[in-house]
Amino acid sequence: MNGNFTYYNPTKLYFGEDSLQYLHKELKNYGPTVMLSYGGGSIKRNGIYDAVVAILKEEGKTIVEDAGVMPNPTVEKLYEGARKAREHNVDLILAVGGGSTIDYAKGVSVSAWCEEDPWEKYYNRMEEASCKVIPVGSVLTMVGTGSEMNGGSVISNHQLGVKVGKVFGAYAFPKFTILNPRFTFTVPQYQMVAGFFDIMSHILEQYFSDTDDNTSDYLSEGLMRSLIHSSRIAVKNPQDYEARSNIMWTATWALNTLIAKGKRTDWEVHMIGHAISSVTDATHGMTLASVSLPYYRHILHDGLPKFVRFAREVWNVCADGKSDEQIALEGLSTMEGWMKELGLVLHSSELGVTETNIPAIADATFLLDGGYRTLTREEVIAILSESM
Ligand code: NZQ
Ligand code: ZN
Repeated sequence: MNGNFTYYNPTKLYFGEDSLQYLHKELKNYGPTVMLSYGGGSIKRNGIYDAVVAILKEEGKTIVEDAGVMPNPTVEKLYEGARKAREHNVDLILAVGGGSTIDYAKGVSVSAWCEEDPWEKYYNRMEEASCKVIPVGSVLTMVGTGSEMNGGSVISNHQLGVKVGKVFGAYAFPKFTILNPRFTFTVPQYQMVAGFFDIMSHILEQYFSDTDDNTSDYLSEGLMRSLIHSSRIAVKNPQDYEARSNIMWTATWALNTLIAKGKRTDWEVHMIGHAISSVTDATHGMTLASVSLPYYRHILHDGLPKFVRFAREVWNVCADGKSDEQIALEGLSTMEGWMKELGLVLHSSELGVTETNIPAIADATFLLDGGYRTLTREEVIAILSESM
């Protein structure tokens, strides 16, 4: 490991079937007004809303309702939430939902008291907050993004045709997160498996970069093995508590900054995935699933030793009598088999990608230089065409 780094993660986690009870304790740390942010209504149907509201009331809080955070939250919704948070002078934003709701809550937390246009400041100029930041707490209901323990906030701007991920510093991480695996049991199968692949992709984005011997990569291999094992159980029986709880914990560690420490990271699959969503509004994890195999086959020779290690350590590919290229390709085809078992979308055409909109998607793709190869626009177009 050659890098220099600071590791600091201030999010307090409460994990398990009884974890919601700790909301009582946490709420005592904040003032009287709580903005309750949530999505399209799933928490009302599965009872989580009632349970959270009962605790807020028992703690004497004034609730500012903030419903309707959509998947791939928009900048318009961010502006609306920021206005509301400021108008009510809220003391805490409690985000109850998946990555979209938590990402949005972080965006609101730094925007409410911001005197400039938050889109320009944070998502365009990529600056840090310089105003009062409202604390965020979260109750996670959908597993995948890692938003529950990081500073990520991904916002879509359809007018500009982009989806941008800003990573805020530790001051904007959720102060606390409640992780109850049972809360995820009602997630529809499509969203559930999309979340599983999102976790895999987060690990791959951090794993497929650099060539030195790094503890983070060993941690990544363990996380991937656990995810593969538990996802096979969960896809057959989504009510398997142990599998869902392992996956929830894996997701949090896959993107809470730990496995990126001391190394470079890639994130190009996410850049293409975000560009697909910016044009089609497709589900995040599925965009990643549809382009990952074409992307990794495209860059295989640029990072061959790591792809060989991946095949052997993560997918148990037997190396006897095979060339490095054969081993590496077998690793990816074994991953493809697992993706089919989960029922992931392997063709971007199923997400609304067409020959006609590929150029616009390529234009919306940010090209990064952290991985084994820096793509050109033409290569992005080739990968997207291959993904169809
Ligand atoms: O809107 P509701 O009613 O809550 O329904 C949601 C939504 O339709 C539903 N859902 C969530 N929990 C449920 C449930 N349905 C039934 N029962 C439950 N318990 O699932 C749907 C998807 O929810 P969403 O929050 O959009 O999913 P996800 O957690 O995958 O979040 C996706 C967003 O996070 C961003 C993505 O780009 C996307 O905008 N990401 C954030 C990251 C971060 N903060 O670090 C990193 C990721 O790479 C990702 O980019
Ligand atoms: Zn992701």
